[in-house]
Amino acid sequence: MDSNTLVPELDAENTGELKYSRTIADLPGPKGQPFIGNLMQLTGRQLHLTLTQWIGEFGPIFRVTAFGSPMVIVSDRTVVNHLLRERPEAFRRSRNLKAVMNELKIGGVFTAESEDWRKQRKLVMGGLNAEVVRNFFPTMVFMTDRMLQRWKTAVVAGKPVNLRRDLKALALDIIVGIAMGHDIDAVNDDDSRLQRNIDNLFQRLGNRTTALFDYWRYFKLPVDHAADKSAAEVEQAVEEFIKNTRERLKQEAHLQRKPANMLEAMIVASENPESDFTDQELISNAILSVIGGEDTTSNSIAWMINLLAQNPAAAAALTAEVDAVLGDAPLAHEWEMMKQFPYLEAVHNESQRLRSVAPFIGLASNADCVVAETFIPKDTAVFVATTGEGLDEAQFPNPELFQPERWIFEQKPQRDDDPTRKLFPFGGGARLCPGRFLALTEIKVVVSMLMRHFELELDPKAPPVEQVMNFFVGPSAVPVRLKLRA
Ligand code: HEM
Repeated sequence: MDSNTLVPELDAENTGELKYSRTIADLPGPKGQPFIGNLMQLTGRQLHLTLTQWIGEFGPIFRVTAFGSPMVIVSDRTVVNHLLRERPEAFRRSRNLKAVMNELKIGGVFTAESEDWRKQRKLVMGGLNAEVVRNFFPTMVFMTDRMLQRWKTAVVAGKPVNLRRDLKALALDIIVGIAMGHDIDAVNDDDSRLQRNIDNLFQRLGNRTTALFDYWRYFKLPVDHAADKSAAEVEQAVEEFIKNTRERLKQEAHLQRKPANMLEAMIVASENPESDFTDQELISNAILSVIGGEDTTSNSIAWMINLLAQNPAAAAALTAEVDAVLGDAPLAHEWEMMKQFPYLEAVHNESQRLRSVAPFIGLASNADCVVAETFIPKDTAVFVATTGEGLDEAQFPNPELFQPERWIFEQKPQRDDDPTRKLFPFGGGARLCPGRFLALTEIKVVVSMLMRHFELELDPKAPPVEQVMNFFVGPSAVPVRLKLRA
């Protein structure tokens, strides 16, 4: 494709001056059924795999339809990059996603648009900046050590470790710790209420965003009532955290200058007389962070463990790096160590390429525009693939192989060859994930702890691991046994 034709051109004024050589109807796409189109293929927990398979069949831009409404799927990295960068003006988040998330009280900056988005983005960025993550770092190390002690005790006693469950609990401890300033110790609480409520919300989010029909708006099943109850309980818990934090900030004025967590930073920002943040914005963004920070990070680590267990040479290379950086220390307890894990970062990049936790971002056009020479009318749904060309043989030779070495270079590659420009695991443009720095820090602390103390043994009898979309995509299991290193 000629890169000059990829930039989306907007026709906000409807002047009819857009230049294009085709319409959506001219794009290739899978055959659908009369009237409903591809609807039946666009539902369920394997939707991302269907779309990925179609990318292989129909190429970098194709269309599907549901009840006559077209949707465009884009994976060409230059087009994806442009579309993500044209926000919030030219594209917004998909309307359906926004409605479903807001119904479950998970809105905040993720579903906000225009000026409202700008305002909330400032609030959230202030709460997740490098200084806040650094101030929280000792607590993250403490929580990771608590996980280590639990795993060691279990392994010594010959008890099985449920890695899937434990990684979620640890990610929840860390995100609630940084977002709310509270230690819920979900790692050692096998019946954490907050964990259950969040699992409930994810289940509904996953079901409703891939449902054939929005039945819950007409009648509610017991699972929908349970989700409403969970949403109300999470909101109540967050209100309580906010109240406690406000009191602590009043009593310990020095915290205002050096906020130790996201909530403190957001409350300090919201109390600035020049800001006009509301309590509701504080609450919804605190909830969003907990929801956004749990499954994303724990699924990413779970995929890394599965892939490392299947690739012993990569696991050995990572263990060698971790040993060299940690020396005699049991954990990566010094902030400076975070810059010393190039192989661990490569393992993460390679895992996101093969097993992205957020493989598609749903957008909608705000005005008539042209994308890759195709006329896209206002309000068209456009899905961008965050894995871009990650499975394209021409971009990543032998794309099915797990090879972290692809991401290690003596000299930074030229712009066009730079693999980091070919994938978008954290999205892009002005809406780039504000939690990525926190997530990458957490991934380094947790995975280095794991490799420092344990060998990963793949359970040979376990059934194949499936990719399950529960809003974010995670493995159906982590069939890996931990064995204490000598
Ligand atoms: C490995 C972990 C993570 C991955 C792969 C991930 C991925 C993503 C992606 C793909 C987006 C959409 C970006 C876009 O539209 O361009 C996003 C947005 C977002 N993420 Fe993350 N995320 C991760 C961790 C986190 C964490 C730990 C937090 C919170 C503490 C977080 C909070 C958010 C928020 C608030 C947004 C919305 C930003 C906006 O609309 O302006 N994420 N993330």
